[in-house]
Amino acid sequence: MELNVLVVEERDMPVWEKARNYLKRKKIKLFSASTLREAYKILNREPINIVLSDFNLKNINSLNFLNKIKTIRPDVEIIFLSERVPLSKAIEAMKAGAYDFYEFPINMKLLMTVIEKAAEKQTLYIEKMKLEKKFKERVNYGNIIGRSKAMQYVIDIVASVASKNVNILLTGETGTGKEMIANAIHYSSSRSAKPYVKVNCAVFNEGILESELFGHEKGAFTGAAARRQGRFELANGGTIFLDEIADLPLGTQIKLLRILQEKEFERVGGNETIKVDVRVIAATNRDLKKLIDEGRFRDDLYYRLNVVKIELPALRERKEDFPLLASYFINKLNEEKGYKIKGISKEAMQTLLSYQWPGNVRELENALESAMALAKKDFIEASYLPAFLLMSEPEHSDYYRISHNLTLSEVERELIRLTLDKTNGNKTAAARALGIGLRSLHRKIKVIRAVPP
Ligand SMILES: Nc1ncnc2c1ncn2[C@@H]1O[C@H](COP(=O)(O)OP(=O)(O)OP(=O)(O)O)[C@@H](O)[C@H]1O
Ligand SMILES: [Mg+2]
Repeated sequence: MELNVLVVEERDMPVWEKARNYLKRKKIKLFSASTLREAYKILNREPINIVLSDFNLKNINSLNFLNKIKTIRPDVEIIFLSERVPLSKAIEAMKAGAYDFYEFPINMKLLMTVIEKAAEKQTLYIEKMKLEKKFKERVNYGNIIGRSKAMQYVIDIVASVASKNVNILLTGETGTGKEMIANAIHYSSSRSAKPYVKVNCAVFNEGILESELFGHEKGAFTGAAARRQGRFELANGGTIFLDEIADLPLGTQIKLLRILQEKEFERVGGNETIKVDVRVIAATNRDLKKLIDEGRFRDDLYYRLNVVKIELPALRERKEDFPLLASYFINKLNEEKGYKIKGISKEAMQTLLSYQWPGNVRELENALESAMALAKKDFIEASYLPAFLLMSEPEHSDYYRISHNLTLSEVERELIRLTLDKTNGNKTAAARALGIGLRSLHRKIKVIRAVPP
């Protein structure tokens, strides 16, 4: 590996010239500084491994110099060279973190060995820092369980956008972990020590929501007895998590758009324009594109929110994560509730795998908690699982999807159509499957034909 050494000396002594020539011959890339300012500049800019410095610098105490270097580049090792100084001084320098200390005249071979050893130490230091950083990241994302490709993809995006100041839109079915991901983004961003404010846009009506978000002035409406700061003001410098964003009324959407574009707003009933610096993370389990088509969501707001979109996969789409999730929740609940469950039977796992999990991870956690509470042994058996899991159809059997806003007679019609599809038009088989006589089926089909689909 190429070594980069910065030589810091102000006195132009022949011994330094000799050292330089020797190191150059050894293919070391040399940088030179004769002032501190130059030295700091080079340290900030160049991939310096080692500083080789005169101990008797004119304008600065060498130990202060050492400290300053360690602040700028904690990985860089410093070797001092000097004419005779009291031993106590040399010891002091070593204690302060110098790598080594040599008196003139210098044995060049020895100096070279010392430089190489110091460079090795630097490599170790950098490796250690990398590991610590990785570990920290893992701690941050440690509660996001998922080894499946789909979840790893999500975690990768989170890791790469968290520190960037971009707005993020989280989508995914209920219980897939949108809020958990929002938390991870805030707490691993540079805003982590700043406020993190959450607003559920679905729980307030338009008037209250606006005053929640933007605050209000005294007397802005009946009941506004005092000025109140809104959540955007409270979140200044930090992150706001706007949950259930699809429920934002159109009027409020315009105001939110202004904050995203201009970073400013007025309190309800106020004239003063307030500037804020807030990162917005929004979440929804609805299809915003569809709401845009229906005129219920502004497309300009959508594009502002959706700088980065993270789609959380449904639990049923990442079956390989089940064992990991199950043991994670079992451990967590053992700790929280004092249970002593050791695991889950094969049959129970099979039952978990064949269910569709419309409530996703939240529903899985609840099902396990209920099973753990009912367990009579230290293993979760299938019979302890909630009844709806046991009754659910095996995964690969066909489901009929029937929309929930149909009337009873429409459902009947739909069901007959679907059953006939399944029996390839065989009416006898369809009638049998539906539990009615062939003649009743014929009658019903006649009615269906009379009504356009
Ligand atoms: N990958 C995961 N690893 C561990 N826990 C998870 C994971 N995904 C979700 N959870 C847990 O599941 C529960 C539901 O997650 P969360 O509240 O983030 O879902 P959501 O997408 O916001 O749901 P909703 O749309 O209903 O608000 C939380 O307790 C969360 O910690
Ligand atoms: Mg949520």
